[in-house]
Amino acid sequence: MRSDANIAGPMTDPVPGPRTESMGMDVSRETPPPMDDTPIGRAAQLAVEALGRAGEGLPRPEQTRVIVVANQKGGVGKTTTTVNLAASLALHGGRVLVIDLDPQGNASTALGIDHHAEVPSIYDVLVESKPLADVVQPVPDVEGLFCAPATIDLAGAEIELVSLVARESRLERAIQAYEQPLDYVLIDCPPSLGLLTVNALVAGQEVLIPIQCEYYALEGLGQLLRNVDLVRGHLNPGLHVSTILLTMYDGRTRLASQVAEEVRTHFGDEVLRTSIPRSVRISEAPSYGQTVLTYDPGSSGALSYLEAAREIALRGVGVSYDATHAHIGAQSDPSMVEGMQ
Ligand SMILES: Nc1ncnc2c1ncn2[C@@H]1O[C@H](COP(=O)(O)OP(=O)(O)OP(=O)(O)O)[C@@H](O)[C@H]1O
Ligand SMILES: [Mg+2]
Repeated sequence: MRSDANIAGPMTDPVPGPRTESMGMDVSRETPPPMDDTPIGRAAQLAVEALGRAGEGLPRPEQTRVIVVANQKGGVGKTTTTVNLAASLALHGGRVLVIDLDPQGNASTALGIDHHAEVPSIYDVLVESKPLADVVQPVPDVEGLFCAPATIDLAGAEIELVSLVARESRLERAIQAYEQPLDYVLIDCPPSLGLLTVNALVAGQEVLIPIQCEYYALEGLGQLLRNVDLVRGHLNPGLHVSTILLTMYDGRTRLASQVAEEVRTHFGDEVLRTSIPRSVRISEAPSYGQTVLTYDPGSSGALSYLEAAREIALRGVGVSYDATHAHIGAQSDPSMVEGMQ
């Protein structure tokens, strides 16, 4: 595995073969469609332009950043964050691999990647020692974005891994052996702290914890943080919690701002200035096999993930972040919150 931050010119896909054509556009849209019959990828690019930074791209990390998206609490936005951040980073010019480490396969679904039982998957990598390159697929419509899918087989992996050699570091080895240039690897963890999540924590340098802005938001996080400490102490000295992202933020409620304040007090600088609003478009996109970036690139949800990606990329190279756009969609303006209660 290597990061090719200085590579010039077009890069090849790790998986040869044609890209899938754009998906249908017959979905409800928050923003008006472009005048001409533009592919979805182009429409997504418009969202980048909407932020007034067309063509600027973002600094690419010198080395591949492996980011583990984890929180053992269910339904806090791990998968949504993984796929939308990954798409945002790719639209900003990065080469990004999503590893779906959840037997539910939600990240694969959201990226429009086939993951029925016969598809070569991350299970084959972890349990059968198949090279990662043999299971990675390009994501339709988003240049530079790739996915290692999860199939239902992965449900048995927690048990099967127990008896295997180097059971905690099988994912790390697979990523290390992956030779295609990548700027980011984002790993979507299941809502548990078992061997799958441990494999992710051993493979990554950074942990990103999505926190849903609701009561009990911080409950259970202590256990995750203790696991991060344990893995750092025994298996992966460089591991650290680099990023906390507030998700499903509804600026109209006192509770959301109280939770946000509590999280910021607790974690300080790790909390991104950008938070993700509660958004109908974000929750609709996976049923079309799309990220919100291609489903509705001008929506507040898409813009907030683009902005979060910008913040993460800039932090990674030590550039200070201009928070002008940090609160896109997170204010109490009903049109921005898109009517979801
Ligand atoms: N910002 C948002 N606005 C509205 N709905 C959201 C938002 N983020 C996530 N959701 C919805 O909340 C639900 C849970 O999100 P998601 O699947 O990303 O969580 P998760 O942490 O990956 O869950 P699990 O623990 O089951 O893997 C999904 O239905 C998703 O569409
Ligand atoms: Mg999930």
